[in-house]
Amino acid sequence: MRDKNFLIENNARHFWHPMAHPAEMQKSPPTIITKADGVHVEDVDGRRVLDGVGGLWCVNLGHSCEPVKAAIRDQLDIMPFFNSFRGTTNAPAIELSYALREFFAPEGLTRAFFTSGGSDSVEVALRLARQYHKLRGEADRVKFISLKKAYHGTHFGGASVNGNVNFRRAYEPLLPGCFHIPCPWPYRNPFNESDPAKVAQLCANLLEDEIVFQGPDTVAAFIMEPVLGAGGVIPPHDSFMPMVREICSRHGVLLISDEVITGFGRAGAWTGARLYGVQPDLATTAKGLTNGYFPFGAVMISDAVRETFENNKSALGSIGSGYTYSAHPVGAAAAIAALGEMQRLNVAGNAAARGAELLAALDALKDKFEIVGDVRGRGLMVCLELVSDRAKKTPIAKPVINKVFDGIYEAGVIVRVSGNNIIISPPLIVGPEHITQISEAVAAGLQAA
Ligand SMILES: Cc1ncc(COP(=O)(O)O)c(C=O)c1O
Repeated sequence: MRDKNFLIENNARHFWHPMAHPAEMQKSPPTIITKADGVHVEDVDGRRVLDGVGGLWCVNLGHSCEPVKAAIRDQLDIMPFFNSFRGTTNAPAIELSYALREFFAPEGLTRAFFTSGGSDSVEVALRLARQYHKLRGEADRVKFISLKKAYHGTHFGGASVNGNVNFRRAYEPLLPGCFHIPCPWPYRNPFNESDPAKVAQLCANLLEDEIVFQGPDTVAAFIMEPVLGAGGVIPPHDSFMPMVREICSRHGVLLISDEVITGFGRAGAWTGARLYGVQPDLATTAKGLTNGYFPFGAVMISDAVRETFENNKSALGSIGSGYTYSAHPVGAAAAIAALGEMQRLNVAGNAAARGAELLAALDALKDKFEIVGDVRGRGLMVCLELVSDRAKKTPIAKPVINKVFDGIYEAGVIVRVSGNNIIISPPLIVGPEHITQISEAVAAGLQAA
């Protein structure tokens, strides 16, 4: 590898960073992370900090998960790649499909379609939803409904169901036939309502209203994150997803659970849908599936959907979606190992316990720091929303939140800033001592601002 001076000189010069302005990156180049182990990362200056980001909601087992690393190394030796398009397959993909079927049994999801990441998984799920209705003779069911504030990746389909203007505006016009309802967010909503159950009920009512307005026989699917992640960690009231399930079923609309973040324990249950006892028709996964060590995802498919495809005798039933790297043997091998480790270590249970501790510790900061407007989360998905005026809920200015970030980093923890939110999503193997470290570092950052 080139030396430190080379890295600093060329930082952000020759590649554009995702979700960033190229000019801004050149003006204030990003921190260069050079090493990682356990729940820590190290920057180019040798500064070691606790990874409060979990890579990007994905390194659930930390950075030193030897079984996953060994599975990747071994599979590279056995067979680095061959495709799984019709006619050939590979051993790890077959084994993984069996393991996923067992893992997702409580959701009733029995088939997998493999992808190269979360955006791919969302795209495939949306496509399968339309195809499912066509196979059943309901070709008019092409529309999608989703939540404002949702994040479903950046492919055109995913961007079209995204609920944040930042990921839409520059790329419009997006896919026609996509509609949005308010998300069940007690802190900010158009109803001036702060009771979580009432907000959930109002949003569910609007979902039904929108389906009826569009004409139920024109709506293919409703897609939602069980706990909204990138939009600012918004956990809906427990009643919301079950109500959504009931409304979708009543109108023949498929429910897609976007589990790219929540899929493997992060929200304190093995899946987001399982938090609420809901069985979706399709679920999208990626990220934690390979512990973030390999770009890989899976769309999980329910019995009702699979029967429609598998009983179809026409060419229309053929899956016209696929990626060169679908069912990549190295990714599949990584996923088998990651699934085994996640279950062995019960990371979902740890996420629930540590998440509750983190939420309580951060919530206590509200009393001390006026700029903490809201603290919310579920499992190890936690967010502090910073405001300059608590009563008016005015989002904090960018320079102030940047100071908070710097202060937290100085105190030994890296977190993520998104708008006026500080988002915290550490590996799911953190212990109580790490939770204390995170909350103390956040307090130090708030103090520094
Ligand atoms: C809920 C959700 N869906 C989809 C995606 C897109 O995944 P990827 O970045 O792997 O394409 C993300 C990424 O953060 C996500 O949080």
